[in-house]
Amino acid sequence: METIHIQGGIPLQGKVRIQGSKNAALPILAACLLMEDVSFLRNCPRIADVEAMIELLQCLGCSMHWRREGLEVNTRQFNCGALPEKAVRGMRSSVFLWGALLGRCGEFSLEYPGGCVIGNRPVDMHIWALEQLGARFQQEESRLYAYAPHLSGAYIRLPISSVGVTENIILAALSAQGDTYVEGAAKEPEIIALCDFLNRCGAWIEGAGTEHLHVVGGRRLYGTEYTIPADRIVAGTYLFATIGTGGRVLLEQAPVKHMGETIRVAEDMGAVLYLTSEGIYVQGPSRPRSIRLETAPYPGFPTDLQSIVLAVETVGEGRSKITERIFENRFRIVPQLQKMGADIEVEDSICAHVCGVNALKGAHLHGEELRGGAALVIAGLMADGESRVDGVSYIMRGYENICRDFKELGARVSGE
Ligand code: EPU
Repeated sequence: METIHIQGGIPLQGKVRIQGSKNAALPILAACLLMEDVSFLRNCPRIADVEAMIELLQCLGCSMHWRREGLEVNTRQFNCGALPEKAVRGMRSSVFLWGALLGRCGEFSLEYPGGCVIGNRPVDMHIWALEQLGARFQQEESRLYAYAPHLSGAYIRLPISSVGVTENIILAALSAQGDTYVEGAAKEPEIIALCDFLNRCGAWIEGAGTEHLHVVGGRRLYGTEYTIPADRIVAGTYLFATIGTGGRVLLEQAPVKHMGETIRVAEDMGAVLYLTSEGIYVQGPSRPRSIRLETAPYPGFPTDLQSIVLAVETVGEGRSKITERIFENRFRIVPQLQKMGADIEVEDSICAHVCGVNALKGAHLHGEELRGGAALVIAGLMADGESRVDGVSYIMRGYENICRDFKELGARVSGE
């Protein structure tokens, strides 16, 4: 599917089951390389980024099988082989292989990771952190060669909160001699999931979800069964889509506990929310109230939901101010929304001033990245008339089937 056609103006109604978390599943798949065993990941999302990671693991001799309830990962035949350039470049999450491969093979030679065009997405801190554990890096044209015959535990203080760097340190530190202490670790729920998984495999990691992490090195790991938690960003996407269309939806299995700021912002926008054991029941307002929002590392408002709120606030009452603090290119969808009649001004490329209009009008839109693409689909659902969103392959990196989900909620959408 490359294009989604949308007939807008219909409030979303009904219930939707929230898929497993992309950002929990990807590092957990990399973590499987640290053991010679079989693991079973329940609720693993069937999305393009996971399929790409599966392909990388298969190249390293792992056998991967989708079963009805999840993904079986067998790393018993693992070998330290080469990885195809295209697959590595194609996804940002190939960076998680660094810590795991250093631990398992003592070296790697890989292309720089690719990923969404939401900013520079440098890897300097990954390199610096792994160097603290004893790894050495050499640039080889477009590739990066790293070797670490002996990883040693270290005390690492991160200058800024980084999810990926924290995860890479954990993966490498498990194979190090001695313990590793991280200060300034990222606190995202996906790090808690990675540590829960690894602790079930026999690791000893303390402090997940806080700024202080303690990883015991050198313990032998075994395969396990684990349920990937529900995706808080997908739940947030459908929550704001309900607000944008003035609908009523039950977000089944939404991870309420990890959606604090998202829920607060939704309520500020005028939604009525009931948090139940089944998930979140949301009733959208007739028109969203304007807000002031700044993205921040967890427990702050997630950068991954910023463009979605921006799209919804184009029809808000009054003026909203949305500030992006994590990635510098998150406002790429603004010209697309302007095509639909949105009134948005971007200041210094980090702050968007949105003046709500009465209605958006349907348009032909181009998604260029995962969350921005989802935001455009939501803008299409809110708009009068027909919209067409291209670039659906970006959306499929993180959503199992956004078209099916919106259709089940009564939207008139179709994919081709
Ligand atoms: N940073 C550096 N140097 C580095 C690494 C990061 O300067 O070596 C900076 C980044 O440029 C950014 C900040 O650190 O300004 C934080 O980025 P972080 O490393 O936390 O991001 P990430 O690990 O690359 C993960 C998610 C992203 C999510 C961010 C922030 C995964 C696979 N990806 O990325 O998810 O936006 O954390 O929460 O976990 C998405 O799902 O759409 C997505 C992009």
